[in-house]
Amino acid sequence: MIEPRHTAKVYRQEPIADGIYSMWIKTPAASVAREGQFINVYMEDGAHILPRPISICEVKEKAGLLRIVYRIAGKGTKAFSKLHAGDDIDVFGPIGNGFPEVNGKVLLFGGGIGIPPMLFAAQKYKKNATSVLGFRNETFLLSDFGLTRGHIFVATEDGSSGVKGTVIDAIADAEVEADVIFACGPLPMLRAIKSYAKEHGIPAYVSMEERMACGVGACLGCVTKTVSVDEHSHVNNARVCKDGPVFFAEEVEL
Ligand SMILES: Cc1cc2nc3c(=O)[nH]c(=O)nc-3n(C[C@H](O)[C@H](O)[C@H](O)COP(=O)(O)OP(=O)(O)OC[C@H]3O[C@@H](n4cnc5c(N)ncnc54)[C@H](O)[C@@H]3O)c2cc1C
Ligand code: FES
Repeated sequence: MIEPRHTAKVYRQEPIADGIYSMWIKTPAASVAREGQFINVYMEDGAHILPRPISICEVKEKAGLLRIVYRIAGKGTKAFSKLHAGDDIDVFGPIGNGFPEVNGKVLLFGGGIGIPPMLFAAQKYKKNATSVLGFRNETFLLSDFGLTRGHIFVATEDGSSGVKGTVIDAIADAEVEADVIFACGPLPMLRAIKSYAKEHGIPAYVSMEERMACGVGACLGCVTKTVSVDEHSHVNNARVCKDGPVFFAEEVEL
């Protein structure tokens, strides 16, 4: 039994692009984590008591290792970037529903810092996965996606790699077969994917990255608007931390 909040050890940490870090931690959470779940990471500095949610990028189950890839956004992520191998780090999780288990061909869309959780899914579905990855300019994790043996399409905003444009532009001329879509990234990207999914008659699941406070469903700080009424709040809301972060695209207002 894994304690939800526990102390893990930093196993390795390195920058993989400008302002983006990859951190492997040793934690029993590695043996139970599923694609699309996240962990809450605490800062050593007691002045910042709210943990920071970070998606699980991949695991090495037997070695008990779990990888997160994060962009420095503010104080918390800056503090994480200072940690070294052997340091303690408090984490809570794995948390969240994760992507559903599916059969057939999976089309994965990742945008920016929404790309790391898609690697976990690409590793699971291997040749049955097509990954469409959208970067601003500098790419990261491409060699990791290359090892999954799935198909890969790349888009960059500045055209420095792959197609110049969005993830939708990247597959505009390709005949991609898919039974289901999983996506994580900025809201405009998720909106475009919801339309693409509707147009092509493919069910889509999106992972939302709302700002969070308590992280355990108590404060309603992370609600997203939904089509149906939430049992907890009796309004058209869902808590991303407790009910998500993965939602059926038709169920949420993007
Ligand atoms: C379920 C989930 C999974 C996530 N997975 C990842 C991941 O794999 N890698 C990663 O780099 N980040 C991820 N994030 C975002 C990450 O949690 C925030 O970047 C982090 O909490 C910022 O903390 P900070 O103390 O560094 O910055 P803060 O000082 O708290 O904030 C710095 C700036 O970032 C903005 N910000 C903070 N949180 C978010 C957010 N959730 N969405 C948009 N803007 C935000 C703030 O408004 C502010 O402008 C995820 C968020 C969620 C909810
Ligand atoms: S962060 Fe408090 S309910 Fe989600």
